[in-house]
Amino acid sequence: MNDLDNLVQSARAQFAQATTPQALENAKARFLGKQGALTERMKALATLAPDERKAQGAAINEAKAAIEAALQARRAELAEAELQRQLQAEALDVTLPGRQRGQGGLHPVTLTLQRIEAIFGSMGFEVADGPEIETDWFNFTALNTPADHPARSMHDTFYVEGGTPEAPLLLRTHTSPMQIRHAVQHVKRARAAAGDTGQGLWAGEMPEIRVIAPGRTYRVDSDATHSPMFHQCEGLWIGRDVSFKDLKVVFTAFCRAFFEDDELELRFRPSFFPFTEPSAEIDIRFTRGPLAGRWLEVAGSGQVHPNVVRNMGLDPEHFIGFAFGMGPDRLTMLRYGVGDLRLFFEGDLRFLAQFR
Ligand code: PHE
Repeated sequence: MNDLDNLVQSARAQFAQATTPQALENAKARFLGKQGALTERMKALATLAPDERKAQGAAINEAKAAIEAALQARRAELAEAELQRQLQAEALDVTLPGRQRGQGGLHPVTLTLQRIEAIFGSMGFEVADGPEIETDWFNFTALNTPADHPARSMHDTFYVEGGTPEAPLLLRTHTSPMQIRHAVQHVKRARAAAGDTGQGLWAGEMPEIRVIAPGRTYRVDSDATHSPMFHQCEGLWIGRDVSFKDLKVVFTAFCRAFFEDDELELRFRPSFFPFTEPSAEIDIRFTRGPLAGRWLEVAGSGQVHPNVVRNMGLDPEHFIGFAFGMGPDRLTMLRYGVGDLRLFFEGDLRFLAQFR
């Protein structure tokens, strides 16, 4: 093998060893660069005799062409390898599940409120909404609660700034003020419809009041089953002859629908509220499931006190009915088997996501 053949072979070998474009260009310089091996041989041609120069020149050119071809081939190989590497690195696995935006969900108590609204809606109750900052008139006085009632103490109630000594402002301690607010509006519409402009108690025509009022309520209270902010849902049904029997029927139907348990038992336990007479606590008892057999309190209720009917603007000789106030937080705990009320208000997604 002559010297030029050796050179070509060594160029091919060095090109093959170069694994990066940079290394390849360095190898190229060793053969084709200004001081490259082949270039040196070209320069040496000048020292040869003319006919020898011609033959040697042709041989060098041939070797040069072979080295350049090897260089091009190796360049193409490296470019292809680089392309494959990039394709690998940026590979998209279309079989992977897509990354989705986190999905939110409704709060368990909101789910309960929606359920309450749907069930009472099906029984002809409308839904009313009212302020969480109340006057003590709506929260207490209009509800027949005397000035010295313990519920009115600083101990039990959050008073807020902005009221006057005669009309203090407070965070409502229950949703019962909505009984008065809603009934007063209802009576106003009935009077207007009848063209009445009088001031006295109303005894005329009026569609029945059938309403629920869900919302947030506040008391100075905090443990595993009491939170300073909690929810209530008020219910009110006033008409010409709405009785305690209707309360029993309506509330039993509600509880059985809410818990999807047709055998659920209810107990109306005599109690006291200033704004109802007679009054009853409502207890429920499951006949199956982990809570079966125990009486569980879910609501307060009673026939609306005549003084309260009067504060609604109605004549208690002509209108009568019942009210109840239940705890949606409690209902949610019972429905889902949650043991600590505080979980609802801590905002921990590990808890909340379970209700999505
Ligand atoms: N407001 C009462 C409470 O918070 C519940 C209740 C409502 C009782 C309506 C009777 C009638 O305990």
